Amino acid sequence: MTMANAMFLLLAAMPFLSLLLLSPSLALNQDFCIADLPRGDTPAGYPCKPQAGVTADDFYYRGLNTTGPTINPFNIGIASAFVTKFPGVNGLGISAARVDFAPGGVVPLHSHPGGTELLFVVEGTLASGFISSATNQVYTKTLYKGDLMVFPQGLLHYQYNLGNDTAAVALSSYSSANPGLMILDFALFANNLPTDVVSKVTVLDELEVRKLKALFGGSG
Ligand SMILES: *[C@@H]1O[C@H](CO)[C@@H](O)[C@H](O)[C@H]1NC(C)=O
Ligand SMILES: *[C@@H]1O[C@H](CO)[C@@H](O)[C@H](O)[C@H]1NC(C)=O
Repeated sequence: MTMANAMFLLLAAMPFLSLLLLSPSLALNQDFCIADLPRGDTPAGYPCKPQAGVTADDFYYRGLNTTGPTINPFNIGIASAFVTKFPGVNGLGISAARVDFAPGGVVPLHSHPGGTELLFVVEGTLASGFISSATNQVYTKTLYKGDLMVFPQGLLHYQYNLGNDTAAVALSSYSSANPGLMILDFALFANNLPTDVVSKVTVLDELEVRKLKALFGGSG
């Protein structure tokens, strides 16, 4: 094989080699892999930013220092430090989020398809629970300042503020750099599936579906 051929084969194999390097089921075989976001996500994570350009700032994120964008109509703000915001967690199987609950604030039923969540109550009192997929068993707890609760990967779960006139704050960490967030109400009622189809697949009457589509911004 000529040198040119060998180089060509190596270059052709690069995308597959980098997939192997980034596979989340394998430990990184390098110290870190700061996500090069503009090059796009792959099933195994983002390609690495060239090591020579890596600085301490790549391992640091200030985006949780304040309340994140409000999620309406739930009276909460969520700031996330997933890989898309915090490229330093790429390939490390970890990320975080901050949730601020106004009085009456609710994190509605949702799941993280990609990771398990560990929630820590920084301030306030929360009602919290999840539902098993095997038997629809519910596991609920009242969480006080300083408490931890774990929500297994993919399972539907919720929290809400039990303080009538006090705010609550929680910090969550995830066993994935990109755990994903699927909010059940948005999945059902913020889409453009025709109302009669949503009605059929949820057993809700069409009037209720139309009301919920109007509330969550769905069409159809
Ligand atoms: C939060 O961080 C931003 C920079 O990302 C900074 O401008 C802001 O002053 C910080 N806010 C607080 C409350 O520290
Ligand atoms: C919140 O309000 C409810 C209903 O008025 C009351 O039963 C409950 O004790 C209040 N909780 C707190 C923490 O003040």
